[in-house]
Amino acid sequence: MLSRQENDRLTQVVNAPMGQMMRRYWVPACLGEEVAERDGTPLRVRIFGQPLVVFRDSGGRLGILDEHCPHRLASLALGRNEEGGIRCVYHGWKFDVEGRCMEMPTEPEGYNFRDRMRTRSYPVREAGGLVWTYLGPPETQPPFPDYDWTRMPKEQVAIIKVGERVNYLQGVEGSIDSSHSWFLHRDTIWDWKKRSEVSSDLSPRIEAQDEPYGFRYAAIRKPNANPDTEKYVRVTQFIAPFTALIPRPLVRSEPAHAQIFVPLDDVRTMFYGVFFSQDGAPVDEAAQRAKHHVVPGVDLDANWFRKGNTENWFLQDRELMKNGSYTGIKGFTNQDMACQESMGPVVDRTQEHLGTSDVAIIRMRRRMLEALRRFEAGEPLLGQDTPIPYERLRGDQQVIPIGEPWQSVGAYGEPNAATAPASR
Ligand code: FES
Ligand SMILES: [Fe+2]
Repeated sequence: MLSRQENDRLTQVVNAPMGQMMRRYWVPACLGEEVAERDGTPLRVRIFGQPLVVFRDSGGRLGILDEHCPHRLASLALGRNEEGGIRCVYHGWKFDVEGRCMEMPTEPEGYNFRDRMRTRSYPVREAGGLVWTYLGPPETQPPFPDYDWTRMPKEQVAIIKVGERVNYLQGVEGSIDSSHSWFLHRDTIWDWKKRSEVSSDLSPRIEAQDEPYGFRYAAIRKPNANPDTEKYVRVTQFIAPFTALIPRPLVRSEPAHAQIFVPLDDVRTMFYGVFFSQDGAPVDEAAQRAKHHVVPGVDLDANWFRKGNTENWFLQDRELMKNGSYTGIKGFTNQDMACQESMGPVVDRTQEHLGTSDVAIIRMRRRMLEALRRFEAGEPLLGQDTPIPYERLRGDQQVIPIGEPWQSVGAYGEPNAATAPASR
């Protein structure tokens, strides 16, 4: 349970301290596939409530600019993307990917207004199938978080992108909530059979440990075999401000998984679920989207939001529930988001009753409030005062001897075998 003030500080990102702090990290703006085409359609993007436009110019360079033209604020997303820049269709002013004004045809020659005119542009990086940006002050730009999957060839990475009509924190809390998957997703998890062979313990003990980038926690269960001498440990990583690394599936031919929850504004979040190879084999993106029932144009609308929502009660099918489905909702992202949206756009955390299974959620809130305090005091942010070996961070699960510390699981791992140096 939180006080109202704590809940507001954690959840409000638009013109609020939390949003200011989040701007000091690299964040995904969109998928590479959305702006793959040179001179293609410019893409409107919102992050922390800020309107942006993303485009790829004639030379293949990516630009992220303020959406509104600095002349009289028409949207550059209406613009013409041609000959090395984006031209506002209202009066023809044209800008390059750096925000420099290339042409200002409505102003007389010799009047150097054009040379002085710039619009704001932001750093861009394309990695792991995502287009990333940094929206904070240039002097505090941190190193890029080069997770192992950001270095893999695109064929080894599949991304599902899904819009959620809730505050980002509800999404994050779902991703660091180990106990729910034994219920909500029980008929959806592909390694469920393997998992339930390993353990049928429904009430894990949760232990957490702070790390410079956030924290990691273990859900510790009694294994079915050798419960007196062994323990089954699932370790999840929380990386500030809104990323989680989920335990790698026990079946190593299944991809590993990272979850990122980018706040579009205070009540809408874009989820990027990244599935990446554990063994160097390709990961089929279309198959992942189909498996999760988040296929663009079928399960999702033109803006990547789910067609299931509160209006149609998340397309929950009671007949399916009578016939073996636990939730009557297809795909585990849809199941998560139905629960999260059913809480309301910003859940009132003064009304909760947290149990021992919520230890990780309590830790995350404490860590993020502390991060915010550090930010306001001008101290280094989480993950930014020491170099973090992002490429060696992983969530993992293993059965280990009962006396061994759980911290041995998902410790800074070996470089991922699937990240061949040649592919960097
Ligand atoms: S508003 Fe863009 S050129 Fe006038
Ligand atoms: Fe879930």
